[in-house]
Amino acid sequence: MTELEQLILKTQEQALAEIQEIQDEQGFESAKAKFIGRKGALTALMSQMGSVPNQDKPAVGKMMNAAKQAIQKALDEQALKIKEQKEVQDALDLSLPGRKPKVGHKHPVSHVMDAAVAIFRRMGFIVADGPDIDTVWNNFDALNAPLDHPSRSPEDNFYFNLERGDDYLDRNTLLLRSQTSDVQIRTMMAQKPPVRIICPGRCYRRDTPDATHGMSFHQIEGLYVDKDVSLADLKGVLATFAREMFGDKTKIRFRPHHFPFTEPSVEADASCFICGGEGCRICKGSGWLEIGGAGIVNPAVFENVGYDPEEVSGFAFGLGIERLAMIRYSINDLRLLYDNDIRFLHQF
Ligand code: DAH
Repeated sequence: MTELEQLILKTQEQALAEIQEIQDEQGFESAKAKFIGRKGALTALMSQMGSVPNQDKPAVGKMMNAAKQAIQKALDEQALKIKEQKEVQDALDLSLPGRKPKVGHKHPVSHVMDAAVAIFRRMGFIVADGPDIDTVWNNFDALNAPLDHPSRSPEDNFYFNLERGDDYLDRNTLLLRSQTSDVQIRTMMAQKPPVRIICPGRCYRRDTPDATHGMSFHQIEGLYVDKDVSLADLKGVLATFAREMFGDKTKIRFRPHHFPFTEPSVEADASCFICGGEGCRICKGSGWLEIGGAGIVNPAVFENVGYDPEEVSGFAFGLGIERLAMIRYSINDLRLLYDNDIRFLHQF
């Protein structure tokens, strides 16, 4: 290789290295001038062509051109790179304040359910669970519901496979449970007394949705089985619950009622925490708010699950969670809870 050829290669190498470092417009101008401009290094080498022997001229000329093209290409590529970097930088405005992610919160029904569970757990109840789909036996028979009990009606329940011939009175037929009371049965079938459980969960009924009914809703069931359990124990537990849920001054009253699985049965009311019992819009003037059903476990239920009614006694209760949420948050239409309107749910 001639000395001139070596110089060409060296200039090209140096140019490519320097071009990589260019950051701005000025850098391009000076690099261009330094290497391929009129007074540039490569141009200066070109002027030495005269002294190259004739037979070598084509090869050296070719090398000169190749070097010029390589330098020009490097300049173009670097220019493109700088342009792209600048675009990214322009798109990223570091002075903009950050965007806060929208954090959600628990649904009001979950809030009330969690609060209720926490209160009963402090009283020593443990949480039991059962599936939403259960047998007619767990949901009705074992709970002592007579075959002609109106609560079994297919018009009020979601039975499975009736159209394929299943009989809604058959103990093995499946349904979406209509009450969490089925978990009483599941628990007693699985363990010996004493029992002290609550069961928070979802139930289903074929109600036409209106301000106080939905096709699905939540209950918290309670069951306490031991020796010598009385209505006074039940009242104490529900009174404690009501005080913790609605405030210190809350009182409880029982009204006689009927459920197949309890005897005697009651409906439990809490004194209205808004008006303190005077009568207001929330309690519809009565001073009392209904919170659920309860009673002393019917001995027939104990027999169905293999417990000895001579040995043990117990109480049970079932509270409607949506109802508690509506009372607690003064909501007058249950459907609002399930419309999924963020503007509404955000308030609680
Ligand atoms: N299961 C009843 C209902 O859905 C509520 C209920 C009443 C549950 C009395 C109980 C109870 O455990 O003792 O209407």
